[in-house]
Amino acid sequence: MRRKPVTLVTGAGGEIGHGLIGRLAAAGRDVLALDVRELPADVRAQCAHAIVGDIVDRNLLGRLVSEFEIHAIYHLAALLSTRSEFTPETAHDVNVGGTLNLLHLAVEQARWHGEPVKFMFPSTIAVYGVPDLATKASAGRLREDQFLFPTTMYGCNKLYCESLGRYFTRHYRQLAHEREPSGVDFRALRFPGLISAFTLPSGGTSDYAPEMVHAAAEGKPYACFVREDARIPFMAMPDGIDALLRLEAAPKAGLRRVVYNVTAFAPSAFELAELTRRHFPGARITFEPDLRRQGIVDSWPADTDDAAARRDWAFAPAYDLERTFRDYLVPNVKARYTGAQ
Ligand code: SER
Repeated sequence: MRRKPVTLVTGAGGEIGHGLIGRLAAAGRDVLALDVRELPADVRAQCAHAIVGDIVDRNLLGRLVSEFEIHAIYHLAALLSTRSEFTPETAHDVNVGGTLNLLHLAVEQARWHGEPVKFMFPSTIAVYGVPDLATKASAGRLREDQFLFPTTMYGCNKLYCESLGRYFTRHYRQLAHEREPSGVDFRALRFPGLISAFTLPSGGTSDYAPEMVHAAAEGKPYACFVREDARIPFMAMPDGIDALLRLEAAPKAGLRRVVYNVTAFAPSAFELAELTRRHFPGARITFEPDLRRQGIVDSWPADTDDAAARRDWAFAPAYDLERTFRDYLVPNVKARYTGAQ
């Protein structure tokens, strides 16, 4: 009996999954969606199969192996940085334990069908940890190998999972008598804060940017939880999804790294508020920093250096800050909250 060939997407109901699944379906791929909650109806309609379940449940993943032939995995499920600080041990279980379970599933799948399994992994600027604001200012755009001293559980988890992915891809069972490659082709992107017009993030620390814009469109006041001068990189969601698909499609021979930075623009919170006010003149934005969440943002780089991604697989974001607001956020969030175009 032939098993069904699919692309597995974990965390399918989350922010990235929402847009990614539409793109995969449009490309004619059968998506097997996995999420701890029922998917929203519009996302479910684009999936060939959808399963409600937890990535820490090894029995569930075992059953997937027997039923489906998985050629690619987009492992999007994670507890984000703010939420993880409330339950660090649970975050570790999900973010690390879940990833290890999926890497194991990928090994099994590759053995079954004899082809490599591409394992796409969104990593994050939270893997960085700059010690203070003076260093943050002087260090500028960080390369992939600088200041890897995360201060959050989420950042620790993602940095370690990058290493696990590298291990599975390059060094798996290196001392075995008859060494065989694992069959896992792990590829990671370090995303900046992602801003979506269609979904709001839950539990992140870069959330002030999307929250500010969505509140303005809804006509609600917004108290920004970081200082006006807080600065980290961001990217419009369509560019984030495009980057994942492009990295998946890139020929292996050209990939000199396992983990790539990608970035698009790096405004201060004040600049974000100014743009929001320009597009939504009635926006009521105040700054009421939460010192502890501010501390996390201060430890993240002001921007990252994505030269390797541009060189190896032609990463090039289509949306700069102005265009993100004008062509993507403003029309879509207005339509979402007022029905207007
Ligand atoms: N957006 C994420 C967060 O804030 C960072 O990867 O947790």
